[in-house]
Amino acid sequence: MTTPAPAPLTDRASYEAAVDTALAASAAYYGEGDTTYSDARFDALVREIAAYEDAFPGHVRADSPIGKVGGGVAPVGDVAHTVPMLSLGNVFSAEELTKWGASLARRIGGPAAGGYAVEPKLDGAAIAARYRKGRLVQLVGRGDGAHGEDLSHAIGTIVGLPEQLDNEATVEIRGEVLLTQAQFEKANEIRTAHNAKVFSNPRNGTAGTLRAKDRPYVIETTFFAYGAVGLDSVDFLVGDTHEKVMAQVQALGVQTTASTEVGLRTCKTLEEVQARVEEISRLRPGLPFGIDGVVIKADSFAEQETAGFATRHPHWAIAYKLPASEAQTKLLRVVWNVGRTGNIAPTAVLEPVEVDGSVLARATLHNPAFIRDSGMMIGDTVMVWKTGDVIPRIEAPVVDLRTGEETPIVLPEVCPKCEGPINKSGERWECAGGAGGGCGLLPSLKYAAGRDQLDIDGLGVTYIEALLDSGDVADVADLFTLTREQLAKAARSEKRADSLLAEIEKAKAQPLNRVFCALGIKNTGRTLSREIARHFHTMEAIRAADAESLAQVNKLPGANAPKIAARIAELGPVIDKLVAAGVNMTEPGADAADGETKAEGPLSGLAVVVTGGMHGPLAHLNRNAMNELIEKAGGTSSSSVSKKTSILVAGEGAGSKLAKAQQLDTKILSEQQFADLVADYLT
Ligand code: IVH
Repeated sequence: MTTPAPAPLTDRASYEAAVDTALAASAAYYGEGDTTYSDARFDALVREIAAYEDAFPGHVRADSPIGKVGGGVAPVGDVAHTVPMLSLGNVFSAEELTKWGASLARRIGGPAAGGYAVEPKLDGAAIAARYRKGRLVQLVGRGDGAHGEDLSHAIGTIVGLPEQLDNEATVEIRGEVLLTQAQFEKANEIRTAHNAKVFSNPRNGTAGTLRAKDRPYVIETTFFAYGAVGLDSVDFLVGDTHEKVMAQVQALGVQTTASTEVGLRTCKTLEEVQARVEEISRLRPGLPFGIDGVVIKADSFAEQETAGFATRHPHWAIAYKLPASEAQTKLLRVVWNVGRTGNIAPTAVLEPVEVDGSVLARATLHNPAFIRDSGMMIGDTVMVWKTGDVIPRIEAPVVDLRTGEETPIVLPEVCPKCEGPINKSGERWECAGGAGGGCGLLPSLKYAAGRDQLDIDGLGVTYIEALLDSGDVADVADLFTLTREQLAKAARSEKRADSLLAEIEKAKAQPLNRVFCALGIKNTGRTLSREIARHFHTMEAIRAADAESLAQVNKLPGANAPKIAARIAELGPVIDKLVAAGVNMTEPGADAADGETKAEGPLSGLAVVVTGGMHGPLAHLNRNAMNELIEKAGGTSSSSVSKKTSILVAGEGAGSKLAKAQQLDTKILSEQQFADLVADYLT
C-alpha cells in the first residue's frame, strides 16, 4: 500500500506538521475541489491529531481542525444559518452502535420508542435550499455550521431540487449534493472538451462544481434531502417524525434519501438497525452514486428534542461509517489487451491496495483518448474505487503528489498481439485485422464456441489455438467441417475428438440468434442478436436487410445499423460456409410472415428483469438462457428495473434491483413462482 496509516504523533513537531498537512489538504479540497488525500487517509490523520491533543491539551493549536465543522477550513460565507448545520458523530462497528444506542437511551429514558430511521450517508456536499412561496430562492453551503456561502448560482443545475414547487411552501430543505457516477463521467467529458483538469473522483468533483461560478459550461449534479427546518416562522412542516417530514418533502417534488435506491427504513430495535446497515453495505457497490456510511436517527421529533445536541452534532443521530470504498495507490504500468473484436484496450496495473475488503490491482483506462485526456503517467498516484462494474475505476492523477520521476504512458505503435497495423480512426483502437481476422481471431473463436453462443462444450482456448496453428481453422465456419483426425490432433486424444465432434454436431442445431451472435459482429451482443433473429427469422432475411431495415430492430441504435449491415455483408463467405456445413439458419418461435415476431405465452406483453443467482428449477440457466426463456414465453427481457418493468425475478443475493423494484412497487416473483409461470417452456 502506498498510503500507510499515519504514524502516531509522539512529539510536538510532528503534531504541528500533521496539523499543517490536514489544513492544507482540506483547503485544497474546499478550494479546487481536489485533494491530495483520500478520505480514509485524511480521517486517520485527523484521528492521530485528536489523540495527540487529548494527551497534550496544552499544545492544541487555535487553528487545529479537530472538532470544527468542515475541519475549520470550509469556505465560510456570510449567510447566517437559521438553525446551525451540524456534523454527525461516527461509529464504525456493531459494538460502537450499541454504545451510541445506550447513551441515547440514557438521555431519553429508554430505547427510542419511536424507532430509528435508517438512510444512506451520501458522499457529497451539504447544502440548505431555501424555498419561499414554492420558489427556490437561495442555496447556502454548510460553511462553519453557523454561516455558509451563498451558492445560489447553482440553482437550476441540480437534479432533484426543482426551482418551482407545485405547492407554495416556505421551508428550508437540507441535504446532500453529489455527482452520480453517470454525471461524474459526463462532467469529465465536458471538462476534457474545455481543456479543464478532469475530476479525480465524484466527491471532489461535487465540491468544485458547487463553488464554481464563471465556468463556460454547466455540470449537472444531484440532490437528496435528509432534513428540513422552518423558514421565516412559517409552519410548513407538520410531521412529527423524520420519516413523515421526508415524505412531505418528497411530495413537494424534491428528492430525499427515501427516493434513493437504498431508501429510508424505520427499524424498531438496534439489532434491526445493524442488520439494515449490513444490507446497505451489500447494496453499496451497485448504487449509482457513492455513499460513505449509513445515518441512523431517532425517528420521533419528540425524542430528538429530549436527546438534544452536543456542540457540533446531535445526540439523536449517528453516522455508521462503512469501510472506505476508495484508496490511493500508484500506477505501476499499463498493459494492452486485444478483445474478441480486435479492440485494443489499456488496463492499469496498480500497486495492490485494499478497498472495502478486496484487493484492487487493476483498473480500466478505457482507451488511448482517456489516457491522453486524463494526463496520467506511469508512477502517478491515483485514486481507485469500486463501482457497480467488475473492473474498478481510476480517473485522474493526483498531480500534487508527483515526484518528477513519472514517465509518460507509451501508446502502442502496432497491435500488441500480432504486431500488425492498428486502426486508430475511432476513439477505441483496434487491430486492423478486425474481428474474425488478425489477432482478434482466437478470442473471437473462443467467444463463438462459448456457452451463450454455439455452446460447444470442451472446445477451450488450448484446442482452438492448436487448430489455428495447424491452419485447420481460419474462421468460425471451419469449426463445422473439422474431421475426427484434425480434432484428435488438436485435442491430442481420439476420445476427446469424439466428444468434440458430437458437441459440434449438436451446435449445428442452435437457434439463429446464437449462430448470429457467434459471428462476433461488433455492437451486436447476446441481447441484440436475439432481437435481430426474432425480427428477421432467417439468416437470409438478415442478409437481405439494409441499414434502414436493421435500424427497425428493437434496441438497435440507428447509428450502428450501417456498420452492422456492412459487417454482415463482409461475412457473406463465412455465412455461406456455415450454410453449406448444415448449420441451422432459422429462429424457432419467431413468425416471419407478418413481421410480428413476438411469441404468444404467459409473459406476452410483459417486461421481465432477472436479478440474483438462480436456484432450484432455474439453476441450470445462466442470464442469457433466462432471457431466452423469457422471450420464448412471449416476454421481453431487460437488465435494469424501471417504471416499465412488469416483473422482477429475484434470486439469491438480489440487491439494488430488488430495492428499486420494491420502491417502484413492481411485481416481484421468486424463482419458484417464476418457474411455475413458465413451466411449459422449461426444458
Ligand atoms: S443528517 C443534524 N443525514 O454528513 C444532523 N447527514 O458528517 C445533520 N450527510 O453534514 C446531518 N447523508 O452533509 C444527515 N442522510 C444523511 C446524510 C448526512 C450525508 C452528511 C451531511 C452532514 C455530514 C455529517
